Amino acid sequence: MTARAGSSGAADAPPVGMFDSGVGGVSVARAFLRMRPRAVVRYVADWTFCPYGGRPDAVVRERALGIARDLAAAGCAPVVVACNTASAVALSDIRRALPDVPVVGMEPAVKPAAAISKSGVVGVLATEHTLRGDLFRVTAGRYARGVRVVTAEGRGFVELVESGDVSSDRARETVARALAPLLAAGCDAVALACTHYPALLPILRELAPGVVFVDPAEAVARRTASLWDGLAGA
Ligand code: DGL
Repeated sequence: MTARAGSSGAADAPPVGMFDSGVGGVSVARAFLRMRPRAVVRYVADWTFCPYGGRPDAVVRERALGIARDLAAAGCAPVVVACNTASAVALSDIRRALPDVPVVGMEPAVKPAAAISKSGVVGVLATEHTLRGDLFRVTAGRYARGVRVVTAEGRGFVELVESGDVSSDRARETVARALAPLLAAGCDAVALACTHYPALLPILRELAPGVVFVDPAEAVARRTASLWDGLAGA
């Protein structure tokens, strides 16, 4: 499904294309539209294939490439892969397939989490795809110097968010289960490396009041806004 958001765009500015497996990437779209309220965002939620986590890489890659190509063909720029899982699996393929379109991807916010941490132990919550992907390995290798990185899969988080269940006892139990190993390891900063997870921030903060959770939506929105400004002025 494709939805439009925002009011009228700047006269000569292209619409921005964003996609995710579902509603997760809306966290990025909202951050971007707060910065550029006159922009138009074309947002694709790939609900037929949601969640991407647990699907073979080849399926996620094919879906992500197809949607990115469609958005580019519809005149969108930049194209924002507002999904960590799709970024982990397909970002370099999308960039190769669309050499003339700026493409923005998600990367786990290990660097800001490491800068915040006082305990020296940083957590990353993500899907299994993201945690085993090269993008995470490279990002963690580059930015995790001097800190220990502990990872956990947010199993069941995407399903909770997609069903609008972000405050029930079931949601609390699901989140507590995923957080347990991070808290046991002494994490005091946790990167939310899946765009669905910020919707669970109230529960995450309630269960771990001493932990800072890092949502990269603002940083990705800033990067998108700066690329979009360049295109609008071109
Ligand atoms: N929002 C996607 C991400 O950032 C969710 C992944 C999924 O569909 O499993 O990874």
